[in-house]
Amino acid sequence: MILRDQSLLDEILLDADTIQARVAELGAEISRDYAHTDHLLLVCILKGGVVFLTDLMRHIDVPHEIDFLAVTSYGAGARESTGDVRIVMDLSRPVQEKHLLIVEDIIDSGHTLKFVMDVLSARNPASIKLCTLLDKPSRRTIPIPVQYTGFQIPDKFVFGYGLDLDEKYRNLPFVGVVKKDVYFK
Ligand code: IMP
Ligand code: MG
Repeated sequence: MILRDQSLLDEILLDADTIQARVAELGAEISRDYAHTDHLLLVCILKGGVVFLTDLMRHIDVPHEIDFLAVTSYGAGARESTGDVRIVMDLSRPVQEKHLLIVEDIIDSGHTLKFVMDVLSARNPASIKLCTLLDKPSRRTIPIPVQYTGFQIPDKFVFGYGLDLDEKYRNLPFVGVVKKDVYFK
């Protein structure tokens, strides 16, 4: 087990094999849906989306580009999205005429994705869709249309496979539920 200190882990919600199988399915679905275009651009939302992106892109067999958008939605030290979302690092190139597929780790309240969708839509891409590994639908305060979802999960704080606990543990190959009394004490 790659997680040496198990004290933060309540349970493994999605093991590595389950995630990999679903990521392969999503890649195949995306490849079918974008077979008609040479202008697919995967927009990875940093930092949480990076592990998902690098696995997903290897299952997408239509030519595509990747780019990165870093946003922050939590105030310093906060563990809930504040709605005050900012761009920390912008895309490297314009997106006109590109078919954008946003690749995100998780949708919680929807604040982050609402902001990202608004910012990117205003740049006149050919289309814009959303692919998230995880979705916590019970937490949504802003409705967000999601075209590709890996897994719907309950309202639990999770980490691993890109998702962090205070910036750590993004490297874990599984998604685990954090032990509340240890992490939120
Ligand atoms: P939203 O703006 O509330 O939808 O929050 C989205 C962001 O919050 C994600 O990009 C994650 O970085 C973070 N987030 C939400 N839920 C979790 C979780 O359970 N574990 C780790 N990060 C989370
Ligand atoms: Mg985070």
